[in-house]
Amino acid sequence: MYGDDIASVLITEEEIEAKVSELAELISKRYPADAPEGDLLLVGVLKGAIFFMTDLAKALPIPTQLEFMAVSSYGSSTSSSGVVRIMKDLDKDIAGRNVLIVEDIIDSGLTLSWLMRNLSTRNPASLEVVTLLRKPDALRTQVEVANVGFDIPSEFVVGYGLDYAERYRDLPYIGTLHPRVYGGETD
Ligand code: PRP
Ligand code: MN
Ligand code: MG
Repeated sequence: MYGDDIASVLITEEEIEAKVSELAELISKRYPADAPEGDLLLVGVLKGAIFFMTDLAKALPIPTQLEFMAVSSYGSSTSSSGVVRIMKDLDKDIAGRNVLIVEDIIDSGLTLSWLMRNLSTRNPASLEVVTLLRKPDALRTQVEVANVGFDIPSEFVVGYGLDYAERYRDLPYIGTLHPRVYGGETD
């Protein structure tokens, strides 16, 4: 679909599906279906988390409610600026609710640590994170993440929500981008 822009498939569609089921089962064990705090509130971080968020919500055997925040720290570059901007805030008050932030990837960790600080000031009953991917070698800050799908090497990956300059989000798998696409190499 994108010619030979994708250098290799890192995680297949089937592997993602199996991992989503696994994470859904782990998460559902920690939140009772009839919690006094109300339904588990999934806070998806737009745009990257959109595919993971919808698949996870469908796989979770407990009732959830879906809210979204849009933040951006990357623009069209391949490395985080560390400056996080809110493009869209939550519509609802999260005080007293069980909140689970849903992310596609933790790279430097700067987006998430900023988001954790921001949301914790709004007094949720609990605040946890689930991320499909994490790059342990790229972490530049300490962030506590209860649920991680895959630890991956520090290569630039796209697909299943992850973009480069807004492209490739629609791939159903996660692949590495050919370095030619983001500059430098000629073949
Ligand atoms: C990407 C990704 C995470 C964040 C991770 O979002 O979806 O949200 O960067 O990077 P970090 O751990 O180094 O902060 P991006 O800012 O590209 O916005 P997008 O989700 O709209 O693509
Ligand atoms: Mn994102
Ligand atoms: Mg992005």
